[in-house]
Amino acid sequence: MQLPDESIEFSYQGLLAPVADAWTPLGELQSQHFLSPERLEAMKQTLVSVRMQIAAEREMVNAPAKMKPLDSGFIDLPQKLLDQHRRKGEISELGRVMALAQKMRDYVDRVVILGVGGSYLGARALFESLCHTFHNEMPARMRLGRPRVYFDGNNADNDAVQDLLELLENTCVDPELREERWGCCVVSKSGGTLETAAIYRLLRGELSRYYGSSFEKIRHLIIPVTGLTGKLRDLCKADGYKDDEVLNIPDNVGGRYSVFSSAGLAPAALMGLDVRALLLGAASMTRRFLEEPFDRNPVLQYAAVNYLMTEEYGKNCRVLAIWSKKLEALGLWYDQLLAESLGKQGRGPTPLTVVYSRDLHSRGQQHQDGPRDKVINNLYVKTTKHTAIPIGMADRNEDDLNSISRKTLPDILTAAIKGSNQAYLEAARPTTDIVLPVLSEHTMGQLMQMLMLATVVEGRLMNVNPYGQPGVEAYKKNMNRILRGG
Ligand code: PA5
Repeated sequence: MQLPDESIEFSYQGLLAPVADAWTPLGELQSQHFLSPERLEAMKQTLVSVRMQIAAEREMVNAPAKMKPLDSGFIDLPQKLLDQHRRKGEISELGRVMALAQKMRDYVDRVVILGVGGSYLGARALFESLCHTFHNEMPARMRLGRPRVYFDGNNADNDAVQDLLELLENTCVDPELREERWGCCVVSKSGGTLETAAIYRLLRGELSRYYGSSFEKIRHLIIPVTGLTGKLRDLCKADGYKDDEVLNIPDNVGGRYSVFSSAGLAPAALMGLDVRALLLGAASMTRRFLEEPFDRNPVLQYAAVNYLMTEEYGKNCRVLAIWSKKLEALGLWYDQLLAESLGKQGRGPTPLTVVYSRDLHSRGQQHQDGPRDKVINNLYVKTTKHTAIPIGMADRNEDDLNSISRKTLPDILTAAIKGSNQAYLEAARPTTDIVLPVLSEHTMGQLMQMLMLATVVEGRLMNVNPYGQPGVEAYKKNMNRILRGG
């Protein structure tokens, strides 16, 4: 399936230093804070080498110790899953994802998805961007058989969990009725993450109480997604799951790079999303990264200009300015991707997600006039899903809107985009633009794969391993020791 009109575009004109005919105060400021075209040109050869290195890493069987962990499996995974599905159908990983999700969707009206970090944020980004904004509140007929979706297992917040239990208790009273049944999808690659494991234990108990005590009865109400070994895998075996009833996160795919493994695909399929279109989008971005020259390669461009802004121009704060409320959770996913991948050895940009125009009313002042430590990567969706809503004429014109009554909400947003970009340019504040033609599975697949690949490129440019998170392991170890009285 080819969807050529849905390609993501990237532009970095908003941070390139302009060639000036004469000296101006603004020109001087821009030459200090904007990227010199010559510097970017000089980087291109390095970028080609880094791309070759990353391509070669995919084939490495025994990586040297200093390169470990090496979790480059995510790069080819989307295409591999699609190919396997074509060859093996229902028994392939993707086939099993779709079949298990379909079975659960037919049976329950509510699903709780458990997981944290990379085992949570990707699924939540897909839910918020691609499902109806008020999905859980919509009547069943509008949800077209898609269950309501809740996320937990990402914290140890007693009262929030109690609220979830109360919701389930009060809405699910008769297990004979589909609209009063609930199920759970637990995602943990290691199977040893305490927050997720504790809430899973709790919900597993609740499921047994609600549906009857024998685990046999409730096994199909839980979809486990985990690594090939670990405590969750062991628990599933002890509970009598057959191998094909547990979904896999491959060894060579790290948590925050796992959205296109079953970790993100199973929740996405439960939400009723088109998982093949997600994978097609991701696979097409991998191809663009590996095959296209710099000028047509959004991964290399994004990585290069952001790397240079951080490392050579002191822009240590990486703002993702999202011009769509539906993409806020995508921003949280990117925060984690960037922070956990590059925040090492005392280095790495600090990510910040803002939703514009909302946050122009909170952070806008600082972005315009505050410290010059930021690069602002705008993210837009070009075409709305629904017809543009006009402001409209009204009898009372005290609000003074009648003169722009034919303008629409997208017109207001476009004016805000142009207005803020112009203001940033005139204050020598660097910006770039990522443009999604529409919000769809196919474009989300491209976008997330683009940001994952760009993070790996940046890591290699910085000489920092973009995989692994030794700092997070330290807190996990301490927490376990404290809890177990060590
Ligand atoms: O990127 C990572 O590897 C982490 O954020 C993990 O995804 C997170 O800690 C959850 O780990 P697990 O899936 O093993 O429960």
